[in-house]
Amino acid sequence: METLVLRLDQVALRLGGRPVLRDVSLDLRAGEFVGLIGANGAGKTTLLRVILGLLRPNSGSVEVLGRPLRRGNPAVGYVPQKQQLDPETPLRGRDLVALGIDGQRWGIPLPSRKRRMRVDEALRAVDAIHYADAPVGKLSGGEQQRLLIAQALLADPQILLLDEPLSNLDIRSANEVVQLVARIGRERGVAVLLVAHDMNPMLDVMDRVLYLAEGRSAIGRVDEVVRTEVLSRLYGYPVDVLHVRGRILVVGGAEMLMGGQREHEVHTHE
Ligand SMILES: Nc1ncnc2c1ncn2[C@@H]1O[C@H](COP(=O)(O)OP(=O)(O)O)[C@@H](O)[C@H]1O
Ligand SMILES: [Mg+2]
Repeated sequence: METLVLRLDQVALRLGGRPVLRDVSLDLRAGEFVGLIGANGAGKTTLLRVILGLLRPNSGSVEVLGRPLRRGNPAVGYVPQKQQLDPETPLRGRDLVALGIDGQRWGIPLPSRKRRMRVDEALRAVDAIHYADAPVGKLSGGEQQRLLIAQALLADPQILLLDEPLSNLDIRSANEVVQLVARIGRERGVAVLLVAHDMNPMLDVMDRVLYLAEGRSAIGRVDEVVRTEVLSRLYGYPVDVLHVRGRILVVGGAEMLMGGQREHEVHTHE
């Protein structure tokens, strides 16, 4: 059994007087790939902020690498939810990645040669060397996302948290990012927690899914968790899990949830 790198036990958190997380538990092991799935507003970003030590739970416990929470832990790499990059931003790809060095090491600058080597290594890890000198604002969404992942890898984390890295990407780029993150996780033994509202692009690579609904969580293999009875209990109302041409659709009440994503219309015909 691989080392336990993250453990959340019955975490509950209120924000603005409202319970956002009611009962969330998770154990994450080295090298494991877990998809964190839930509809908009389910509490996915909030949960990452708890793991980062930015929000303190009202009850329950969190341990990162066997120790209680602290902020700014270099063992935890983080790619925040989409920051829209200004097309005119004067940064090159490698400058964006290098920001990952300045945010750590207690402000002690690395010698420039060593710094360049580490940035190059991270750029290679995400296959971004060939566009490293291009202005970031001119790159595609998938290329920008890979740079942000490289930035998060600079501190050589043992846990990688990615918040909706697939949103705004076309299907092909989304698949590329998923495969890239899965490969990095495998090769480096990094545990990955990847947030998405649609689990479908991750079905091939996910070891387990952490499903969030109504502040409660269920964790396990997709075939264990994404089931009518499990999700109906989680949501507190009946939902159906449909398998359509290799994709999973979660349908509840008057709305359709695509693996967690709320669709605003119910499609009753093709
Ligand atoms: N600082 C806050 N104060 C009050 N409510 C908040 C705060 N941050 C988030 N929320 C609420 O918590 C819920 C979960 O938000 P979030 O974690 O961003 O969801 P997700 O990332 O799954 O879309 C939302 O209803 C949101 O409005
Ligand atoms: Mg979010």
